Amino acid sequence: MKVLLEADRIQQRVRELAAEIEHDHPTGEEIHLVGVLKGGFMFMADLIRAMGARVTLDFIAVSSYQQSKKSSGEVRLLKDLDTGLEGRHVVIVEDIVDTGLTLTYLQDILRARSPRSLRTACLLSKPSRRMVDVKVEYIGFSIEDQFVVGYGLDYAEKHRNLPHIAILDAE
Ligand code: IMP
Ligand code: MG
Repeated sequence: MKVLLEADRIQQRVRELAAEIEHDHPTGEEIHLVGVLKGGFMFMADLIRAMGARVTLDFIAVSSYQQSKKSSGEVRLLKDLDTGLEGRHVVIVEDIVDTGLTLTYLQDILRARSPRSLRTACLLSKPSRRMVDVKVEYIGFSIEDQFVVGYGLDYAEKHRNLPHIAILDAE
């Protein structure tokens, strides 16, 4: 598979995103990261280690892709958060924004829980694929319409362990 983003380039960008996120939040106040499973787990692990501020985390799991490369447009909540969001500064941590349907759903259900602020960080974005206009404050890299794997992202649950991001070979 062809490497699209080398591991050290990702690491560098994640550090920049961590700094931006901290900069945008009031000094001394806690930031609560909400990681989207499973794809966002590696981004979350690196992002949180790059943050010096007071930070907590939780995970939520949704499914939008049914073992395929096509989005069904349907989002299902598989695992909810362990704690509430009321009054907290929340940042959603997601692997990629593609059509935008998953993030729109997530932002809607999390906003309804009255966080003090709600922002979104995505490592990757495929702007040409967007079906709904969704606000994402922090984007690591904008990429072409190619199916990518690695650094948490999978194809049929495989390749999540790659430290870099690669373009999936056409079958
Ligand atoms: P959306 O609802 O179409 O924005 O889909 C977002 C979700 O689809 C992401 O959270 C990923 O899990 C998955 N996804 C979209 N594009 C890719 C890709 O290129 N590789 C792996 N997963 C992808
Ligand atoms: Mg995902």
